[in-house]
Amino acid sequence: MIIDVAISDILSVYQALIGVVSPRPIAWVSTVDANGRINLAPFSFFNTFGANPPVVVFSPTNRRDGSKKDTLLNLAEVPEFVLNAAVEDLAAPLNATSKELPRGESEADLAGLALSPSTKVRPPRVAASPVHLECRVRQVVPVGDGPGSANLVIGEVILIHIDEAVLDPSGRVDPRKLRTIARLGGDYYCRSTDLFEMQRP
Ligand SMILES: Cc1cc2nc3c(=O)[nH]c(=O)nc-3n(C[C@H](O)[C@H](O)[C@H](O)COP(=O)(O)O)c2cc1C
Repeated sequence: MIIDVAISDILSVYQALIGVVSPRPIAWVSTVDANGRINLAPFSFFNTFGANPPVVVFSPTNRRDGSKKDTLLNLAEVPEFVLNAAVEDLAAPLNATSKELPRGESEADLAGLALSPSTKVRPPRVAASPVHLECRVRQVVPVGDGPGSANLVIGEVILIHIDEAVLDPSGRVDPRKLRTIARLGGDYYCRSTDLFEMQRP
């Protein structure tokens, strides 16, 4: 199959991309608006890109009608966010928080998730998640402006909370204990339980 982007519809291109670029880690992002109203949503256009300074990027794309998602609107008002680890035990509430609620209504309440205050940023943390990265926005880079276009939120991680329960004896995160989930194409997800190791050459 050949997909020529110049003559294809956005949905076909999107479905090909998320099927091929997979699995993708999931940023589970808490933000607040200027009035402190909380928003929580998952984004699998996400990764980390360096450690000095520690940088993460995720992309709330524009909706089909071209409007901006609440997370992006909140970041324009309060340029801080928390990345909560997307782990297997929280898969169902994570999915529930992807519901498009009216701006200002908390998806955390909808999903029955308890929140705890952060240390250095205003948005709160998902209490049940074992890892939280407190981040400040460095830059937002829009790429295009139509439906489905990207908004790269470049964030600097300023504080990392890790539950001791997911560490190995040497103090590193043990993937068998953290059990993150990741996004594939369609509505598929994968677990991180089928592991293998290779030494670097
Ligand atoms: C696992 C998962 C991953 C998602 N990844 C993205 C993404 O990378 N970008 C995006 O714009 N929407 C993504 N969505 C959809 C958003 O979570 C959804 O549009 C959400 O309502 C946006 O919330 P907000 O308007 O409160 O910011 C994803 C949904 C799920 C369930």
